[in-house]
Amino acid sequence: MNFCKHEKKYLALILLLCTLVSCKKETQETSGKPENKTTAKVSGQELFEGAGNCTACHKPDQKIIGPSLQEIAKTYKDKKASIVAFLQEQSDPIVDPSQYEVMKTNFAITKSMSEEELKALEDYILGFSN
Ligand code: HEC
Repeated sequence: MNFCKHEKKYLALILLLCTLVSCKKETQETSGKPENKTTAKVSGQELFEGAGNCTACHKPDQKIIGPSLQEIAKTYKDKKASIVAFLQEQSDPIVDPSQYEVMKTNFAITKSMSEEELKALEDYILGFSN
């Protein structure tokens, strides 16, 4: 009797494992290709508002937690500096160095972005200067 109960448990476990494994395979297969497509096409604005969540601290024309995009764009154009380098933590802050620590927390996200994505972000930000 006892043996039978155990056997049922093992069967259930094996079934569960099988479904888990096949599920995993399916999601890997379906997510692999579309993902590549979206990263290649993604716009700076999408990154800024979506994956980057930069809008939490940056607004186009108003300083909130971080400087406005207009201010950042103007400073970077005046100094001919690279936002891409800044987001890769390869250059020093030039807009508001006193608040640099707050911005630094985002480098985990921006450093995981591709050069192409960072360039899209840079173009988006620079578009705010006039
Ligand atoms: C938690 C709030 C916060 C978030 C989220 C945030 N920033 Fe910032 N950011 C700041 C602050 C504060 C500064 C001012 C400090 C400084 O200039 O480094 C700043 C400055 C900047 C600067 C100017 C750097 C310089 O040279 O001084 C750029 C460019 C920038 N942020 C881009 C981004 C991008 C792109 C994202 C999204 C990936 C982002 N920020 C998300 C707070 C934030």
